[in-house]
Amino acid sequence: MKKVITYGTFDLFHQGHYKLLKRAKELGDWLIVGVTTDNFDLERGKMNTCDNVMDRIAAVQATGLADQIVIEEYKGQKIDDIQKYKVDVFAIGSDWTGYFDYLKEYCQVVYLPRTEGISSTQLRQDRPTVSLGIIGTGSIARRFVPESKFVNSIPVTAAFNPNQEECAGFCKQFEIPVAAKTLDEFYQNCSAVYVASPHFTHYEYVKSALNAGKHVLCETPFVFKRSEAEELYGIAESKNLVLMVALKTAYCPAFGHLITLLKSGMIGEIVEVSASVTTLTDENSQKMDSRYFGGSMSENACFPLLPIFKLLGTDYRNINFYSKIKNGVDIYTKAVFRYDSAVASFQVGLGAKSEGNMVISGTKGYAYVPAPWWKTDYFEIRYEDQNQNKKYFYPYAGEGLRYEIKDFVTAILQKNSFFSKVSKRENLYMAQVQEAYLSKNQLFVL
Ligand code: CTP
Repeated sequence: MKKVITYGTFDLFHQGHYKLLKRAKELGDWLIVGVTTDNFDLERGKMNTCDNVMDRIAAVQATGLADQIVIEEYKGQKIDDIQKYKVDVFAIGSDWTGYFDYLKEYCQVVYLPRTEGISSTQLRQDRPTVSLGIIGTGSIARRFVPESKFVNSIPVTAAFNPNQEECAGFCKQFEIPVAAKTLDEFYQNCSAVYVASPHFTHYEYVKSALNAGKHVLCETPFVFKRSEAEELYGIAESKNLVLMVALKTAYCPAFGHLITLLKSGMIGEIVEVSASVTTLTDENSQKMDSRYFGGSMSENACFPLLPIFKLLGTDYRNINFYSKIKNGVDIYTKAVFRYDSAVASFQVGLGAKSEGNMVISGTKGYAYVPAPWWKTDYFEIRYEDQNQNKKYFYPYAGEGLRYEIKDFVTAILQKNSFFSKVSKRENLYMAQVQEAYLSKNQLFVL
């Protein structure tokens, strides 16, 4: 039996894919089709795949041409597959001519004619787009716009800042068509909104954007009261709008894998999560100003809260906060959570420095994520027997914001096949923790 193998992403499955599979099948008796995983696509820099791997596999299957489907997960896998499945012919479209000649050592390599005039890239460009408006034009917005260019279907069309001069300068610098003078003008020029304004304005802006019928991606910290978070989710749900919080760590590939590995029991039962985020900040910055809800808790707490809630859940018994205060803001806070069968703690600081790593301790081993763990591309699982230790590497492209932007646009365009990487419940509890801190009930000032 003559075995043929071919690979592809097969996003938005089209005629070109079908013809390619047909031609490949005609080269032998058994056709194996390799479909790339979503993560392998991300690693290769393909940020914009629309269909997830299960949908793409289903599309290949539906052709009835594939006798076997395999998932392509890593660079170099083609050689492994060819040997493992005793493949006679490797076939691929002519856009790759020459690129796979290195496989000739293992089997026959055939470049098949590509169908002209159609491609996934073109189909993606023809899809509806989400025109994005940005409220707030500070440092995070300045990092956001260049990152958004790596994601398809989400052009930035408008910006708003009550300081019109700043807004005009921002739009000029980033070539954004509309520097809106009023919120009405702003909403007329976008279908979704990224709220990147100062923390204490999030609630009002998110509410106003949702009431205007816009999907919202809100910067962290989301809001400072649980009731506000509940109200905003209520509006979003009643209007069938996407409401997401831009907690970038949640969307980056390494963090997602760390959580799934630990959830599957790799270090046994988790007994402690301990994480630290400190960023020494100028005392004159808004981040250190009590009038703007500045301070270490509001600025950084959402990051360690994420792994704590993902791994231990939100049913903690109590929290104690220990803070060092200067000019009315916490320049350093340690929080300790008591759970029924575990403990969690974090350190956040704008005016005190510590190592920004994360350690998750379990009954069989522990996970170590080096600083800065919140934008990691690497972590280790360590055991008593060091020979069993494992190291994991993942891509972390650019500023890392492109992952959340991709999720936001997917959430809007493909609502049915989307689940948010930070759940509503987690966001409600993050607001609850901020509220608990501001109430000062369990606060011990150092
Ligand atoms: N292919 C083809 N004719 C087309 C498009 C793709 O023969 N018009 C082939 C490719 O050469 C490859 C396979 O289909 O062998 C899977 O390609 P894939 O990269 O998934 O599809 P593209 O449409 O080329 O995707 P993109 O635009 O994202 O590169």
